[in-house]
Amino acid sequence: MRLIFLGPPGAGKGTQAEKISKEFELPHVSTGDIFRKALKEGTELGLKAKNYMDKGLLVPDDVVVAIVEERLKQEDCEKGFILDGFPRTVPQAEALDMSMKELNRSIDHVINISVSKEELIERLTGRRVCSKCGASFHIKYNTPKEEGVCDICGGELIQRDDDRIETVNERLNVYNEQTQPLIEYYKQKKLLRTVDGEKGIDKVFEEISKILRGDSK
Ligand code: AP5
Ligand code: MG
Ligand code: ZN
Repeated sequence: MRLIFLGPPGAGKGTQAEKISKEFELPHVSTGDIFRKALKEGTELGLKAKNYMDKGLLVPDDVVVAIVEERLKQEDCEKGFILDGFPRTVPQAEALDMSMKELNRSIDHVINISVSKEELIERLTGRRVCSKCGASFHIKYNTPKEEGVCDICGGELIQRDDDRIETVNERLNVYNEQTQPLIEYYKQKKLLRTVDGEKGIDKVFEEISKILRGDSK
């Protein structure tokens, strides 16, 4: 199965992609995670991406497209994948269509996670991520067993640099201008499945799982 998880910043793409990845044994490909990892390793790519991420802006299309194309060619993506945070612009979606065509493959579903702006702000500003493994928590909605400590690896939980309120507002604007048009793009291709992302994490997971199992039409 080849899936795209679409939705504004804070909608729960990462949270759900992680769970679906385990349940359906599909690699989770998050462009945001790739950039954060590159930055942690101090690579040129990481430093370049940081300039955009810190401002809440998108990394240029050519950079992102090249990275995703490379990643999707790896062996583990042969049986399918979950794209989280890509594509995010119409040119990125067109580039993905091209590379799928070249590989004689196609996208099966685009899961659009829908959440109101007020709730997104609450989720992003309350999110805490593990400084070691990147796992995501929330100070109210998804609390770790021990405050400030990652349940999975014991690493320290920190706030993402781009989760400060000023940057959050910019990211939401960028989403509305550049990513929202993809809803229409995938609707036209009859691939779009919208889920109500305001429900609890487990409920949203259930809804997406149902769609993927094909018993919710
Ligand atoms: P990226 O890392 O992709 O960030 P994003 O799209 O802004 O999305 P987030 O990761 O913030 O939100 P999410 O939907 O994954 O939510 P999460 O599950 O964590 O990108 C970062 C930056 O990288 C971009 O700004 C850009 O600069 C660059 N970039 C990345 N991809 C790019 C591309 N394709 N092109 C150009 N540039 C790119 O959940 C959020 C919080 O809510 C968590 O605390 C979670 O615990 C909680 N939560 C989740 N679900 C629920 C629920 N149902 N109920 C209550 N709480 C919930
Ligand atoms: Mg994410
Ligand atoms: Zn961790």
